[in-house]
Amino acid sequence: MYSPAADPMCPRVVRVRRRRRDGPDVWTLELEGHRDEPIAFEAGQFNMLTAFGIGEVPVSFSGDPAHPRRIVHTIRAVGPVSSALTRLGPGASLAIRGPLGTGWPMSEASGRDVVLVAGGLGLAPLRPAIYRLLSERARYGRITLLYGTRSPKEILFRRELDAWRKRGDLAVEVTVDHTVEPWQGHVGVVTGLIAHARFDPSRTLALVCGPEIMMRFAADALAACGLAHGAIYLSMERNMKCGIGLCGHCQFGGLLVCRDGPVLRYDRLAATLRVREL
Ligand SMILES: Cc1cc2nc3c(=O)[nH]c(=O)nc-3n(C[C@H](O)[C@H](O)[C@H](O)COP(=O)(O)OP(=O)(O)OC[C@H]3O[C@@H](n4cnc5c(N)ncnc54)[C@H](O)[C@@H]3O)c2cc1C
Ligand code: FES
Repeated sequence: MYSPAADPMCPRVVRVRRRRRDGPDVWTLELEGHRDEPIAFEAGQFNMLTAFGIGEVPVSFSGDPAHPRRIVHTIRAVGPVSSALTRLGPGASLAIRGPLGTGWPMSEASGRDVVLVAGGLGLAPLRPAIYRLLSERARYGRITLLYGTRSPKEILFRRELDAWRKRGDLAVEVTVDHTVEPWQGHVGVVTGLIAHARFDPSRTLALVCGPEIMMRFAADALAACGLAHGAIYLSMERNMKCGIGLCGHCQFGGLLVCRDGPVLRYDRLAATLRVREL
């Protein structure tokens, strides 16, 4: 099994096995390693992905941790590197370094209700946690997924959302900011769903991923429902270069997001998150 410990700065070449469009600017790449080598990762961790000749960027795993031979990343094309990555078709090469960073606190979630709050592309880094929760469903109490996106056409992983909803052992609520299309679901920001979700705050763990402003409001809404700051986890994003705590690019207050995160407990983040433009 591949281990990043040997040299975490040394990338290795992988190929795209499959590529699927998951939204207007969003593509999901399934990668295969040399000789189909497995890459064990935890839900919430990320890889540094290199588009040759262009650059390297951090991208979270979005596949199932139970299938370490199927490395999956869901990428929004926002700039040069992410756009180049989303253009890679089957057979094309790229390089990866990882897995890096901290994962979602899956063992801590055992025996508790779990609320997952996703905004936009934030559903992708949460999907490995959902796979894990569902694969050992009996270990957890009530599980609720609250997902908000801009419009119905930007909803990620539609078929999976429907399949999860049909299981009956996971509450799935989807909301859109606005719509002109026919739409049966909620309209409004995802944080508005939190007060209506059914969970016992005294035994709930919340996993939150999305734009920073959305995560801040989500954490406030969860706290208003009675969750302690220590029971809320956010996945943070910052510009990264090394990804392993050497260069300081991802500094956030006293934390290095690549080394101490990206998944961090809200009680470690709350004060710094309130400092404007940090
Ligand atoms: C731990 C971690 C996990 C991440 N996981 C994912 C993931 O699963 N999927 C994914 O698509 N991206 C993810 N990102 C974000 C991704 O790394 C950036 O989108 C990428 O670095 C942009 O690089 P670029 O060269 O394409 O664009 P840049 O030239 O760096 O940026 C182009 C423009 O896009 C803006 N931009 C940069 N990043 C973002 C962003 N995250 N959201 C919106 N606008 C942005 C910039 O401000 C700039 O205006 C993650 C980032 C971190 C730190
Ligand atoms: S990216 Fe270099 S210290 Fe985090």
